[in-house]
Amino acid sequence: MKGIILAAGAGSRLYPASLPISKILLPVYDKPMIYYPITTLLLAGIKDILIITNPLDIDNFKKVLGDGSQIGVKFSYAIQEIPKGIADSFLIAEDFIGNSPVALVLGDNIFHGFGFSSMLKEVGKRDFGATVFGYQVQDPERFGVVEFDKNNKAISIEEKPKNPKSNYAVTGLYFYDNNVIEYAKTLKPSQRGELEITDLNKIYLEKNQLKVEILGRGFAWLDTGTFESLLQAANFVQSMEINTGMKIASIEEVAYRMGYISKEQLLEISKKYKQNGYGKYLEKIVKL
Ligand code: G1P
Repeated sequence: MKGIILAAGAGSRLYPASLPISKILLPVYDKPMIYYPITTLLLAGIKDILIITNPLDIDNFKKVLGDGSQIGVKFSYAIQEIPKGIADSFLIAEDFIGNSPVALVLGDNIFHGFGFSSMLKEVGKRDFGATVFGYQVQDPERFGVVEFDKNNKAISIEEKPKNPKSNYAVTGLYFYDNNVIEYAKTLKPSQRGELEITDLNKIYLEKNQLKVEILGRGFAWLDTGTFESLLQAANFVQSMEINTGMKIASIEEVAYRMGYISKEQLLEISKKYKQNGYGKYLEKIVKL
């Protein structure tokens, strides 16, 4: 399975904070925002990841993440020249995807919760149909919304409906079989001029090939789109990390636990950050 992180947005809702650098590289507490979606893909067993950025930010992403070899994975980069929508990712990434199934995560979506790793491990093995994740929210009209029947089977998906049929938002993490490329080619821009991921999901729903996994009440799906929500996300991460002594979304730790790098390699990386708690944490992990 291949992975894509869509990190191309201008992040204008966070101007002037995100004027100098992509929002997706701004810190969420102790690490750049993109560490969180990278972790999500790594936990699904995905090691070959394409990062789609805007033309202005590509070099910054490369500076932060390199080619991935340091953590035993592969990062490559592509540019989305104009914000043509989430589903445009599959057109940009056609060659990268090749014959594989593919997962897409939005660069500003942070997921954290018990059981998520095992859920991802399972979903990452699927090579037929599509899987999306539903999460109960207060303001479903801001999102893609999925409606269920009595047996918890998805029966409709709508993008930002004025009158939502449920409180379940479709989160920004999607798994597809290889047909997604052909389906993406059939999409027409929506009223807001974008190729909508919801239209793609509708194609799978109509074919009866869409699975919706529910992320339950104990789960955190965090928004980072406004000053308030970005700060809240940072506070959440800080409080979890302080309470447990474990970090959320340290890509170096995850790579080590997935067996992609050795103890020695992790120790080597920790030296880069030895002045601070992040480096000390990586050192601690090696000794556990
Ligand atoms: C996008 C999708 C929407 C989804 C949301 C998750 O919204 O269009 O279906 O629920 O991401 O973050 P947008 O960021 O385009 O407003």
